[in-house]
This record gives sequence, C-alpha cells and structure tokens, in this order.
Amino acid sequence: MTTRPLLLLPLLLLFIKPSFSAGMKLNVLSYGAKPDGSADSTKAFLAAWTQACASTAPASIYVPRGMFLLRNVKFRGQCKNRAITIRINGTLVAPVDYRVIGNAECRQLACKNSGKSCPSGATSLSFSKSKNVVVVGLTSVNSQMFHIVINGCQNVKMQGVTVTASGNSPNTDGIHVQLSSGVTILNSKIQTGDDCVIGSLGKDQNEAGVQNVTVKRATFIGTQNGVRIKSWARPSNGFARNIVFQHVTMKNVQNPIVIDQNYCPGNNNCPDQVSGIKVSDVMYRDIHGTSAAQVSVNFDCSSSHPCSGIRLEGVSLTYKNEVAAASCKHAGGTSFGVVHPTSCF
Ligand SMILES: *[C@@H]1O[C@H](CO)[C@@H](O)[C@H](O)[C@H]1NC(C)=O
Ligand SMILES: *[C@@H]1O[C@H](CO)[C@@H](O)[C@H](O)[C@H]1NC(C)=O
Repeated sequence: MTTRPLLLLPLLLLFIKPSFSAGMKLNVLSYGAKPDGSADSTKAFLAAWTQACASTAPASIYVPRGMFLLRNVKFRGQCKNRAITIRINGTLVAPVDYRVIGNAECRQLACKNSGKSCPSGATSLSFSKSKNVVVVGLTSVNSQMFHIVINGCQNVKMQGVTVTASGNSPNTDGIHVQLSSGVTILNSKIQTGDDCVIGSLGKDQNEAGVQNVTVKRATFIGTQNGVRIKSWARPSNGFARNIVFQHVTMKNVQNPIVIDQNYCPGNNNCPDQVSGIKVSDVMYRDIHGTSAAQVSVNFDCSSSHPCSGIRLEGVSLTYKNEVAAASCKHAGGTSFGVVHPTSCF
C-alpha cells in the first residue's frame, strides 16, 4: 500500500462563476509540467496560475492525464479574474520523502502516534480566505495530515468528494472546516484516521463558535464515532448551537450519538478540566442502526456550561440485538416518539 499522498482525477475546482467554454485554456504542459511523477512541476503550476489570476477573461487551467509531482504550491490572490477553473484529469502526487513537505505547515501539531516530535505533515489541499469555491469529483488519498481544509471561506460547495486514509493514521482529518460560512458537502465519502468534517471545539479561549450545521442522510460504517460534537476540556467562549442530525444510519458504530466535552488527549493542557463551550439546540431525528458498544447515546457535557435543548426524535439503536444504553451528564432536553435507548435527561 502506498502512503504517498495523492489527489486523483477527475477534479474540478471552480472559483467564482464558472465558465466552461469561453476564455483562456492554460495547459500545464505548456508551462513545463511533466506527467512522469518524478520531475517537479511546482513552477509550471504556479506559472499557469499567475497567468490565469492576472487575466480578466475567464480562464481554465488544465492538467492532463499523468502523474504530476508537486511540492508546496500556493495559488495566491488577489486575482483580477473572477472565473478560474482548474480541471485535473491527472493525478497530483507529493514527494515520496515525507520530510520534503512534511515540515512546512502546522508545526504546532505533534506526531500523535510516536509521542516524539516529528514533522507534522502537510495538508493535501487547503482553501484559505476564498469565496465561491466549487470542488467536484475530487479524490484525496493518504494525506500526510489533513486532507482538505476550508479556512476562513464563504460559500463553498464540495460535491462527490472521496477521502481515503487508514483508520490508524494520525490527524488525517477529511474535510476540516473552520472560520467559514455557507459550506455545503454533498454526496461525499470520507474514511480517515481522525475527524471526518469538524474537529475539536474550544481549544482556545476566544473562538467563533459553530452554528447552523445540518447533517442529513449519512451512513456510518464501523467507525469509532457517529454523529459527534467534541470540545476540549478547556475554558473557551465558543459555542455549538442549532445543529441537526437526521436520517442517519449506523452500522456497528462504537459511539453512534455522542457529545464529548471532556476531550483532552494525553491529559495535557486542560487546566481546570471543564469545557467552556455551550452546546444547545441539537436535534437528532431518525437515527437508527447498530452500536458496537452498550452505550449508544452518550451526552457527556460541561459541568459549567451544561448542554440544553437536546431533542431526540425517532432514535432506534441496538447493541447485540438488544436495546442499547444511554448516558447523560449535565445534559438537558426532550424526547419525542420512539426513542431507544430511552433518553436519560
Ligand atoms: C478530462 O476528463 C473528462 C472526464 O473523464 C473528459 O470528459 C474530458 O474530455 C477530459 N479532457 C480532456 C481534454 O481530455
Ligand atoms: C443561523 O440560523 C439562524 C436561525 O435560522 C439565523 O438567524 C442566523 O443568521 C444563522 N447564522 C449564520 C451565521 O448563518
């Protein structure tokens, strides 16, 4: 099995209003890119971007079939262009040696598996401070760290995205969304060693909070967690509210429904062991399937900021063909209709 990070075809990235027919076509081969998987094509990709960015006419950067080796590539704005398309029919690969790009980003994250300091790895694809981004049909395999980051963006649509990494690979978050609004993820399949979409809240004192998140028609298969809200056991002024999980199927999931506000890996840096994140108005509707552990509904909320407004409606989870159990700490809410296990509010 390769551990070399890959971005696979077909990937279509669209910035601002896409235009397929009109405008410039920029083939990375014309800028010196080599589809052999070993020559460094970084400069060629940057040159194509620079031209697209400087133009006022719609531009389409085209990456044909083949393997293109890239180091750290930054497509920067501000651009004059309001319609850039990047069509990738080939495969983008990272250097085989992890250290070449592995030290470049996110130095603050330690290497969880070894416990020793080691390069944290590079994120495969990151969008920062961007607006109106569309990603279609991307496959990302075995990122060194996060697969895709959406940071400080507005109006992002990800469609038909596949993320694959082994279950024990540290920090290989799927689509890591932060400080962004108007993010939609549709018809996607995420399989990682860490968080699939949103990671741990409340690490810092000042955080923007998470609101208005809807997860619909999702299936979790053999995962450690199902629908989870997780926050550090640290002081924070953040929050998580107006969250809806509905029409969700669980198959052999260890923690199908979970709010964990006592997250503190290695019991380090959690001064008073209480999360400041206020969790409220979370609805679980039509959640069914099987749990791999007896406790299938676990609300472990903050003692200083208890969870409120949790609503369970049509929940049916079994453990070894029997009704599973529920556990509540500092959690308040109501249940409607059939709820198994019976709620513990
Ligand atoms: C790129 O791939 C798509 C989808 O497979 C195909 O429709 C398109 O013709 C390809 N583009 C070129 C220029 O070969
Ligand atoms: C969240 O939803 C509420 C209620 O629908 C709305 O008033 C608020 O503007 C939304 N906030 C954001 C950031 O979308």
